[in-house]
This record gives sequence, structure tokens and C-alpha cells, in this order.
Amino acid sequence: MQLRLDGKTALITGGSRGIGKGIAKAFSEAGATVMITSRKADSCEEAAAEIGRGCVWEAGHVGKPEDAERIVDACIERIGGVDILVNNAGTNPYAGPTIDVDLGRWNKTIEVNLTAPLLWTQLAWQKYMKENGSVVINISSVGGLSTNPVLGVYDVTKAALIHLTKQLAPELGPMVRVNAICPGLIKTDFARLLWEGERGAEVAKAYPLGRLGETEDIAAAALWLAADSGSWVTGQAIVLDGGGLVQFREGG
Ligand SMILES: NC(=O)c1ccc[n+]([C@@H]2O[C@H](COP(=O)([O-])OP(=O)(O)OC[C@H]3O[C@@H](n4cnc5c(N)ncnc54)[C@H](OP(=O)(O)O)[C@@H]3O)[C@@H](O)[C@H]2O)c1
Repeated sequence: MQLRLDGKTALITGGSRGIGKGIAKAFSEAGATVMITSRKADSCEEAAAEIGRGCVWEAGHVGKPEDAERIVDACIERIGGVDILVNNAGTNPYAGPTIDVDLGRWNKTIEVNLTAPLLWTQLAWQKYMKENGSVVINISSVGGLSTNPVLGVYDVTKAALIHLTKQLAPELGPMVRVNAICPGLIKTDFARLLWEGERGAEVAKAYPLGRLGETEDIAAAALWLAADSGSWVTGQAIVLDGGGLVQFREGG
């Protein structure tokens, strides 16, 4: 079965760099017409030019309902639909014990990582998907499947995103398939503090597959889910983490 997206349209939030840009490139190379979004117009413009093949962009904040509606409308008008929606933009403004988080950063994390995927899916469903069918891919994290001493707030939103994925799958089927991808540590700007230098080498060594993730690892899974190859898959959270979650831990 060919991993092709010819004739399909795709909207990718946070598509100006990192995992989102990797997915945008893969979809575009597979024949889709792609729109990317992020807050910064100049980054979007640069990324769209690099991706080429008719990739277009609109700048906006994923958490702002007026931006979300404007961009979903623009996607339908400019490239003809939203056959694939990738809710990829994410944030992590707080590191520390969850019990100590201030409500400002708690709400911000929920707004971008959880409310936005719901909002963008709602808009795309109302305006396009319920009549035309579609695929939604939510970029969660292995953090949503485990605990962490300092990333708990982020992880709570990613766990909730997995549950939102499961909840929407039966609600939106059979017209729409909704799945999540849970990456381990991927070498992007977002996670730079975790993978640069000796710390990253240690993490990589502990992974059963012996290396950290690249954006292409996630893009390959997103393409598989978006194409006909994924046509019997919905409500799933697919882990891509080099085996990080199953590595042996000291103390059993
Ligand atoms: N890297 C990892 O190790 C890792 C692991 C697990 C999960 N993830 C998840 O993967 C997704 C992508 O992460 P990444 O590592 O590729 O990050 P990244 O390299 O920092 O890219 C993030 C993208 O999202 C955009 N963005 C951020 N906040 C936004 C907002 N409020 N509104 C609109 N766009 C926004 C950024 O552009 P602007 O700054 O221009 O807005 C950029 O295009 C996130 O959901 C993250 O939680 C990453």
C-alpha cells in the first residue's frame, strides 16, 4: 500500500519548525497541499518556502478562538479543505512540582496543549470534516503516559489530550479518524535543554534503540496514520520513543 496523500489538504499547527515542519514536509512530499501555522509570520513564510510544492501559511495563536476560526476558514478557502488536521503546536512554560504551579502558567499550558486541539477540531468538524471526512492527528507525548518530577503540568495536558483523542474517535467516526502520537525525546528547539550535551547522550544510551528521535521519525508515523494505510485506526495513542518507556529501570 502506497503512503500517498495526492489530492488531500492538510492543516498543521506549529508547522514552522520542529516536528510540525517535519510532518508538513512529509505530507507535501506525499502529494498533499499543506497549510502551516504558527505565531510568527516570518518563520511561517521561511518554512513554507523551504517546504515548497504550494505550501501556504497563516500566522496566529492556536489558543485564540478568533485566530483559529480565521485560519481554518483560510485553509478551506485557499487550499480547498481540511482533509487532515495535525494539532501539533505545544508549550511548556513551567518546570517544577505540579503542586507549586501558579494558575497563570497552568491555564496557559492547558490553553495551548489541550483546549486548542479541541477548538481546532471543533472548527474543522463544523466547517468541513462532518461533510467530507477527515483525519485528525494530535501530537501528545510519552509524558502523558508517565510521571515526572518537573514536567507534571505539561504531562497532565498531554495525558488529557490522549483521552480527548479516545473520546472524539467514537464521536466523530466513521467520517473522521482521530489518533494521537506520543513522541519520546525528539531533537527540536522545544526540548533542547533535555537533549543537548552529555544529558542527551545519557538519555540516548538508556533508550533500547540507542538514539534520540528525529522529526522524520514522527513524520513517518503521521504519514502512515493520515494515508490509507491508517484507514482502520482510530482512537489510538501511538508511542514512538526508541523504547524509552520500556527501558529497564534500576530497582525494578
Ligand atoms: N521535542 C520533543 O522532544 C517532544 C516530545 C514529545 C512531544 N512533543 C510535542 O510535539 C509538538 C511539537 O514540538 P516541537 O518539539 O516540534 O517544538 P518546537 O520545535 O518548539 O516547535 C513548536 C511549533 O509550535 C509553534 N507554536 C508554539 N506555541 C504556539 C502557539 N501558542 N500558537 C501557535 N503556534 C505555536 C511554534 O512556532 P511559533 O513560536 O512561531 O509560534 C513552532 O512552529 C508539541 O506539542 C510538543 O509538546 C515534543
